[in-house]
Amino acid sequence: MYTEKVMDHFQNPRNVGEIENPSGMGTVGNARCGDIMRIYLDIDDQQVIRDVKFKTFGCGAAVATSSMATELVKGKTVQEAMQVTNKAVMEALDGLPPVKVHCSLLAEEAIHAALWDYAEKTGIVIEGLERPRTDISEHEEEEEY
Ligand code: FES
Repeated sequence: MYTEKVMDHFQNPRNVGEIENPSGMGTVGNARCGDIMRIYLDIDDQQVIRDVKFKTFGCGAAVATSSMATELVKGKTVQEAMQVTNKAVMEALDGLPPVKVHCSLLAEEAIHAALWDYAEKTGIVIEGLERPRTDISEHEEEEEY
């Protein structure tokens, strides 16, 4: 049911933990399944994401997608990190079962929430970034895949 990459990132998640005094931090949840994700970003003066960590209280797919998402944003600029959508993360994992696609939204939203926090603190404008939702289940039906 799960690809090898999903199993690998689920069993050996990368970048688990937290960052003290992060440049940005975001927490989002899905009220329907009760899963929660928190992302910490360490961003330097050049707006490059030097380090990223995550913590999750979530299902295996949420762990795997967060792990892959953190790998994809590390070393990127904050603007480039906007390209790391849940679709990009799923592609990098060679796909997710359809019932688990919503789990990948947690990682994308948590990264956006952390970027939003950073943008608010620094006054930097990140193109395309919208105010994050704290509960991703509200709009789930509207999402199309
Ligand atoms: Fe809730 Fe996967 S079931 S994030």
